[in-house]
Amino acid sequence: MILTISLLLIVIWGKRQHTRSSSNEPAICRQIIAGVLRSTEKQQPNTLSPHQSKAIANRHLPIAFGIDNAFTRTDSVHASMFVEKVKPLINLSAEQWHSVSEFARVTTSHWIEHGFPGLDHSCGSSCHKEKQKPDCNRINVASLAQILSLKVVLWLMFDKKTQDQTCDENLLNLAQSINRVWISSKLKATENDIPRFEDDIPLQTSLVNIFGKHNHPEDNPLNLILPSFETMWRVMLRSFLEIRFGTGKEVPEWRETMIAFAKKPTKKQFDAGSRYPPSLSIPGPSMDDTRGGQSSPSANYIVRESLRLYAPTRHVHRAYQWNQGTGASHEMMSADIEGCHTMSDIWGSDADRFNPKRWFVFTPAQGDAFMPFGCPPFECPAKPTFGPRMVGVLVGSLLTAVGG
Ligand SMILES: *[C@@H]1O[C@H](CO)[C@@H](O)[C@H](O)[C@H]1NC(C)=O
Repeated sequence: MILTISLLLIVIWGKRQHTRSSSNEPAICRQIIAGVLRSTEKQQPNTLSPHQSKAIANRHLPIAFGIDNAFTRTDSVHASMFVEKVKPLINLSAEQWHSVSEFARVTTSHWIEHGFPGLDHSCGSSCHKEKQKPDCNRINVASLAQILSLKVVLWLMFDKKTQDQTCDENLLNLAQSINRVWISSKLKATENDIPRFEDDIPLQTSLVNIFGKHNHPEDNPLNLILPSFETMWRVMLRSFLEIRFGTGKEVPEWRETMIAFAKKPTKKQFDAGSRYPPSLSIPGPSMDDTRGGQSSPSANYIVRESLRLYAPTRHVHRAYQWNQGTGASHEMMSADIEGCHTMSDIWGSDADRFNPKRWFVFTPAQGDAFMPFGCPPFECPAKPTFGPRMVGVLVGSLLTAVGG
């Protein structure tokens, strides 16, 4: 009996802490993210400030990762200071774009040809002591996407050019620790369930191995790494798979467009639709083009379509408190970005299909619904240039390395 009651209490308590409503209506999502949605019944305003709404919804991040950045700050001054600090770091010059892309291509090709860090272990242990050459042609593409994104982030944001293989193993350890904690810290009902950074020796060790010790949360390298790496590698991986093995399998122009962009990562090249002389165009039924004439979608459109179908952040959560005086229970509201990106009444009956050509023509409603980098006032500073172009560079590099 007591057990039943306590179970019941746990359920109720869990619910109180955890009430969640979700919307895939773009206009509502924008309000949810901004922290200004009014309550359904009485149209009451949120008593939490927009930054509080955001920080409370992200409260697991400082606990699990020991960070202190724009995602975790309740005051707008510090949050915008962080964003201002990041802006120059991601404002790359033409030369920087060029060298980061070359770096990505060389690194990836090297891995594909000579094997990949971390693979040695799995080869070594699974092949026992036989002299047989381990099957190092097998590459874990997810690990590759992670470590490549991480390398690029380290290079650009921490001025760390990591070349050697031992470093790669550290990076892979860090990437895997981050992902482990990222997943295990999500959507916990109470703070006690959230894994704690102080207790996570593997995560701390992999950080120290690369950056040395830091003493304050505001100096934690993860402040910069989490928002860049954790979102980028997933989009990059999904985009690569889609272009190389999915829908794009039948459309070699997409690959070539991405490879050409990685080779020449300029704005002009990003927006260039690749055109083929008629003799080279692919005959057959593939991807009948009804919207864009004879031009093939630009790298920009291919990346945009990747960001639509594989949104970097699928749900954005915000804490709401509408009734003053009803205790400290928050309601969690979530903006279903993935839903906004795939609603068929906005995107058409092929909403679930990867079709970069849809971007030749798009409606205002689609513009409103497309929020891969969030929306004001919390728009990601990587939205205008850095994010899309970096995804393009990384995907293009990966395609180059596997030989198109
Ligand atoms: C990026 O840097 C250039 C100079 O390197 C500067 O002119 C430009 O205003 C910067 N852009 C942003 C958005 O900060």
